[in-house]
Amino acid sequence: MKKPIVVGVVGCGYWGPNLVRNFKGLPDCDLKAMCDVNEARLKHMRSLYSDVEGVSDFEHLLNGVGLDAVVVAAPVKHHYSLAKASLLSGKHTLIEKPMASCSAQCEELIQVAESKGLVLMVGHTFLYSAPVHKIVEIVQAGDIGEIRYINSRRLNLGLFQKDINVAWDLAPHDISIILHILGEFPVVVNCQGNAHVTSGIEDVTNISLSFRQKRFATIQSSWLEPRKVREMTIVGTRRMIVYDDLQTHEKIRIYDVRVECPPHYDTFADFHYSYHYGDSYIPHIEQEEPLRAECRHFLDCIEKGNRPLTSGYEGLDLVRILEAASASLKDHGAPVTVSPSLKRDSRPLPVPHLGAPLLH
Ligand SMILES: NC(=O)c1ccc[n+]([C@@H]2O[C@H](COP(=O)([O-])OP(=O)(O)OC[C@H]3O[C@@H](n4cnc5c(N)ncnc54)[C@H](O)[C@@H]3O)[C@@H](O)[C@H]2O)c1
Repeated sequence: MKKPIVVGVVGCGYWGPNLVRNFKGLPDCDLKAMCDVNEARLKHMRSLYSDVEGVSDFEHLLNGVGLDAVVVAAPVKHHYSLAKASLLSGKHTLIEKPMASCSAQCEELIQVAESKGLVLMVGHTFLYSAPVHKIVEIVQAGDIGEIRYINSRRLNLGLFQKDINVAWDLAPHDISIILHILGEFPVVVNCQGNAHVTSGIEDVTNISLSFRQKRFATIQSSWLEPRKVREMTIVGTRRMIVYDDLQTHEKIRIYDVRVECPPHYDTFADFHYSYHYGDSYIPHIEQEEPLRAECRHFLDCIEKGNRPLTSGYEGLDLVRILEAASASLKDHGAPVTVSPSLKRDSRPLPVPHLGAPLLH
């Protein structure tokens, strides 16, 4: 019989409990321990999961409870040290987004994971969501034509973070989706923003990503908006998609609209844009909680020795873009040139299959 993978979660604040709940509910997983330095959080978690050990000492989590894998859901400034200790102690590691505070830290974590043959995954949760899968399927089928641009807005009032600005907090979701849809890395990043509430921590930012062949994406992030907005528009040459993640069922709508220019004209009177107004339709999407799919993928990669869809390399790419955005922000929106960590097809694929640590 297959032995379950033994998992521990570090960080039980806002997001950690969702990871605990999902790992607890997955077959082939033994959620053995939860760790938080805050005793009040631990007490609360113990009251919800009396059969899961609650520990305040991270060293004990790593070496005292027999884990195969660690999930890091602490604030971003702790990701690097917690994940590095986890990898060095031989644990497969899932780190919440963004992977770390700078690209040098991400590179080191990738190197440690590779040298030890461990799975390193980053929680780019939206890449495990059914609407994003559907959008990629539609784009890859050529249904919307060539993508002209993508516009994304992620706005609400709060939750204000103390260690990162709103771009590092919210934009990772949009950036990961955009890179996945376009299948390429930008060449230039611009970012403007302002810190209105906490000095030095921008609460409103606008990032633009320029890609090859004049394609671009804009990402607006805010903790200072009266209404919650989670909307992305993908404008193609033939059709357009609006993805509204706040809708319960109709998250994606495809608009059969476009504008065409006459191929040539001789006089002004000959010149007419052609506007096409067709139907709009809502594809059916079989939904599952994206975080559950993400957690299952982590276990599956450990089991099979595969590189995750959102590996350390994707985590590093995202942090490079965030670093470029921060540099541009400091320089009042000036363009910052970027390049990917490694071309997608040259990224190492499966980690060596590790049967042994899973056999308890
Ligand atoms: N994937 C997603 O959709 C998503 C959503 C929200 C947050 N997140 C990410 O999850 C992570 C946590 O965010 P949050 O909003 O839950 O933060 P939070 O501040 O609410 O919770 C963090 C918890 O970690 C604990 N902690 C801090 N340092 C620790 C340490 N050294 N050892 C053990 N525990 C420690 C704190 O006491 C706190 O309870 C962040 O990286 C954030 O970006 C991801």
